[in-house]
Amino acid sequence: MTEKYVVAIDQGTTSTRCIVFDRRGQLVSLAQQEHKQYFPRPGWVEHDATEIWRNVERLAPRVLSRAGIGLDQVAALGITNQRETTVIWDRVTGVPVGRAIIWQDTRTDALVHSLAAGTGASEVSAISGLPFSTYFSGPRLRWMLDHTPGLRERAERGEVICGTMETWLIWNLTGRAQHVTDVTNASRTMLLDVRTLDWSPTALDFFGIPHAMLPSVQPSIGGFGTAREAFPGVRIGAALGDQQAALFGQTCFTPGEAKCTYGTGSFLLLNTGAELVRSEHGLLTTVAYQIAGEPAAYALEGSIAITGSLVQWFRDQLELISTAPEIETLARTVADNGGCYIVPAFSGLYAPHWRSEARGVIVGLTSYITKGHLARAVLEATAWQTREVVDAMNTDSGLTMTTLKADGGMTADNLLMQMIADVLDVPVVRPLAVETVSLGAAYAAGLAVGYWPDLDGLRRNWHIAGQWIPAMEPAAREREYANWRRAVTRTLDWIQ
Ligand code: G3P
Repeated sequence: MTEKYVVAIDQGTTSTRCIVFDRRGQLVSLAQQEHKQYFPRPGWVEHDATEIWRNVERLAPRVLSRAGIGLDQVAALGITNQRETTVIWDRVTGVPVGRAIIWQDTRTDALVHSLAAGTGASEVSAISGLPFSTYFSGPRLRWMLDHTPGLRERAERGEVICGTMETWLIWNLTGRAQHVTDVTNASRTMLLDVRTLDWSPTALDFFGIPHAMLPSVQPSIGGFGTAREAFPGVRIGAALGDQQAALFGQTCFTPGEAKCTYGTGSFLLLNTGAELVRSEHGLLTTVAYQIAGEPAAYALEGSIAITGSLVQWFRDQLELISTAPEIETLARTVADNGGCYIVPAFSGLYAPHWRSEARGVIVGLTSYITKGHLARAVLEATAWQTREVVDAMNTDSGLTMTTLKADGGMTADNLLMQMIADVLDVPVVRPLAVETVSLGAAYAAGLAVGYWPDLDGLRRNWHIAGQWIPAMEPAAREREYANWRRAVTRTLDWIQ
């Protein structure tokens, strides 16, 4: 019998990746393509959805030929994606009406402020489990409808339709047959009722979004039709937002298990099981996953907008390093931060503050500061932002995190991993399988078609690769944390 495999498509913020996994959850082949980032004005960030779909079409044959397998050997396809990024397109021509507006874009800042002050705002927050922020898709959709002449009328007639990136990819993969989203992605729009797991008429009314333009909401693990393009004949078994996919890939299936993925931004998710926990400390209530025919599993999420992107900024805008990994070498040239702190509120501040209008600061500059100290402050910013969300998570859940499961590109930085263990005062562990986002999508798709029988089988594939033990003096930790918090207040002082 020919061996079968599962393929994951990970449509991320900076690139799209296709990965083939085998039955042990091991990576067999990978193909990746970056796409252009458009920054048309300060705070605006856009992608060309057509370019992203073309990349998927190109990557499909490449990843299969690298694995040395044919389409008949692909048991299922799993989709995972950057969440909240939103696109509207013409139902007949398939052409987007404009560029996709991505999750980091802050153009809806003023709109979000006025919506948050309006009647019914707190009800919409309670229904969706989300605070008012430029981060989510709902305000973005409203902005597009308000700023493109005639678009609202076309949306009401169902001539133009919308979606996040999994919706766009599934629509194209299925030859325009399926206009669907999954519960995890839908839970990031502010339009979903997180209890009923369907679009909330109250929220749609509040934002002024026509129901006719929305995809139908499906469980994450079940079925999204069969691909006709790129992977013709292959069943699409699952779709999940990338952070929920990482939770799945880290096999955090039991309430109380958590992971943090360090990428462009960083996202800490705690599985709360069937219980929908409301945060009182700035975390999001979100859907972790739903297997068809079963109740959804929920999560509490601490979202940090800027972590890896701060390293990219240090490399591309300040040109102080030429490759991202060099930040570790540069940071190791000094013993400490020299009194300097960087708070990267480039897209405002996300969890636990939720201040869209905050802007970044560098504080503590003296002529003593070298680029080594700045490099250290860049890495420490990721560690302290993690500490803030872990504190919120511990208070909200009433549990105390005893280990942090970390994954994502930044976990290759050993100095950063040590800093995180130091500031949290808990061990940090990294799994052998670092591609947890894609792996989670593959696991979910494989489960849907019976390629893997159950969750326990997946757990046995998880192996530890690295561990960092806290080594910071408690007094130094408290002093540094107090300094960090003072620096954070400066991002708010700047607002007029
Ligand atoms: O919520 C945004 C998140 O899904 C983006 O993840 O890895 O594409 O930066 P990433």
